[in-house]
Amino acid sequence: MEYEPVVGRLREVRVITRPTADGRSSVTFRNFVVEMPYSKELNLEIGALLAVETIREDTYLILEVADYVPVHFGMINLDGSIPKEIRDQVMEEVSKSWHNGGNSEMWIDVFAYPIGYIATQNGFRKGYYPPLPGSPVRILNKESFKEFVCAKNGTDIGTVLGQGIPLTVNLPKAMVYHIGVFAFTGSGKSNLTSALIRRILNYTDAKVVIFDISMEYSILLLDQLLKHNSEILTTERYPSNPSDSSRKFMRTHVIPEELENYRERIRRTIESLFMEGKIRTLYVPPQGSMSLTYDSFLKLIKDQIDDKYTAFAQKPLFSLMLRKLDEMMRVNKIPKDAPLDDSILPILDEIENEGRSAGLKDNSTIFAFISSLRSYVSTDQVQSDEYDIEKLAIDILNRDKDSPRLFVLELQNLEESREIVASLVEEVMARRKRSFSTSPILFVLDEAQEFIPFDTRQRDKSELSSSAVEKLLRHGRKYHLHALISTQRLAYLNTNVLQQLHTYFISVLPRPYDRQLVSETFGISDALLDRTLDLEVGQWLLVSFKASLPHDVPVFFNAPNNLDEIRKILEEDRSGNLINGNK
Ligand SMILES: Nc1ncnc2c1ncn2[C@@H]1O[C@H](COP(=O)(O)OP(=O)(O)O)[C@@H](O)[C@H]1O
Ligand SMILES: [Mg+2]
Repeated sequence: MEYEPVVGRLREVRVITRPTADGRSSVTFRNFVVEMPYSKELNLEIGALLAVETIREDTYLILEVADYVPVHFGMINLDGSIPKEIRDQVMEEVSKSWHNGGNSEMWIDVFAYPIGYIATQNGFRKGYYPPLPGSPVRILNKESFKEFVCAKNGTDIGTVLGQGIPLTVNLPKAMVYHIGVFAFTGSGKSNLTSALIRRILNYTDAKVVIFDISMEYSILLLDQLLKHNSEILTTERYPSNPSDSSRKFMRTHVIPEELENYRERIRRTIESLFMEGKIRTLYVPPQGSMSLTYDSFLKLIKDQIDDKYTAFAQKPLFSLMLRKLDEMMRVNKIPKDAPLDDSILPILDEIENEGRSAGLKDNSTIFAFISSLRSYVSTDQVQSDEYDIEKLAIDILNRDKDSPRLFVLELQNLEESREIVASLVEEVMARRKRSFSTSPILFVLDEAQEFIPFDTRQRDKSELSSSAVEKLLRHGRKYHLHALISTQRLAYLNTNVLQQLHTYFISVLPRPYDRQLVSETFGISDALLDRTLDLEVGQWLLVSFKASLPHDVPVFFNAPNNLDEIRKILEEDRSGNLINGNK
């Protein structure tokens, strides 16, 4: 390990305990105060890493700097009890002395906390040993920082704040364990998400499916839509003429101010997407007409058994139906999520006969139930030419080299979009289970609070989307299906979901509750999380648990501006034809 020349000393250890965000228990953080000599040249930033001697020989505890403040001995007891003239005089002296460089009266108090790693001669490993108060504390230099923090041969996603080195991450692994992007509106979530997607498309073999309720990603990823085989799915009807369509498209989408000068070029690009058939209308069946599965059929029967209005004489028959169905599913190995089909007809016939021989009346519930099921499974699903969820799922799962890789679903109506999210995710999962493949698919949910809210409802369909996304997050990894979710408030999100994400990108979260939730999830000091309040647009804190980085170190970085990346490509394209395969 190599260090900066400056050496500090460990002065204090403070243990801070507070109630957890949900108020049910408490958490404790260790905070260390390190004294560093004051000098104008001191190269110390929040996020810097320190090494301090511990009780074990040749074993150093790694600390991360959460904050630092210059201190002057002359002002330590300078409070209101000292006469004003003296206060003013002292402060004036002190103020001057900072500019004259360091002296022994002044130093820097550095607040740092342990991140769960120790360094020995054999390198870094997980662990903790108590550090020795008073002992030297050194700052890891750029090289050592890079070796510890950055992923070797990883993808560059920005610049580490204060270090000026590229932050490289293991993108495939980040994706496998799902990604979250959390920040207040306007902090740059969509911008970062687009920059990440651009890298995922170029440096991994994943396909990406974006659920876009703000209608922004087809512009934010315009270059990628051209570069790769891709599809924009819309529920909007466009005119048949590509030129008219492109004009309508420009009217219904927001063009960021930064790209205002390129309006005409963007329009022509959109026109070419229309000509290539990359912008397609997604057919969504009327609400409530989603199809039945074996599972939902089982539930329907159970509801009949539990319903207190079901006549007593019919209940055994419903139970029999349930048993027969269960037996048939086991014998024929029918998965629960398979669509209900006419193989249930023999069971229906059998139960009907049983009912008749038991002397049930013609108008019994069970007969009505059977006859409606019969007509459901016997009606052929109308085969249409419309591009629907099922066809979309097939395209998403298509493993051909030239099959589409990027899908942007422009969703305008919230309730409908929740149904679309639910049915697409379910369809893709069900199909993936039946025909396994290892090619990764990333689902991107921006404004995720709309789909996986804390408070789900049946009425607005959020129950549907929430349970589908929860399933994706819990079980998707086995099937190489992953998610990136982005939202402005963690408190509004289904908390089961949060525990499934191993990589968080965090910028300004004004509510303490949201920040506390993150510190508790990852065991990071509140002091560090509070520093996210100072982040500027485009600056992020990356925290990962066994995913994006070789070690679990929270790292502050400056993300590239996605708009610059598109602008560069629009710029390069002087001829007006965006070139396919542009890097
Ligand atoms: N890394 C960045 N560098 C420069 N500007 C950025 C960066 N990220 C975002 N911005 C700008 O900040 C504004 C808000 O970004 P946006 O991604 O829409 O935020 P959010 O999705 O969180 O509401 C946009 O004008 C965007 O161009
Ligand atoms: Mg946004």
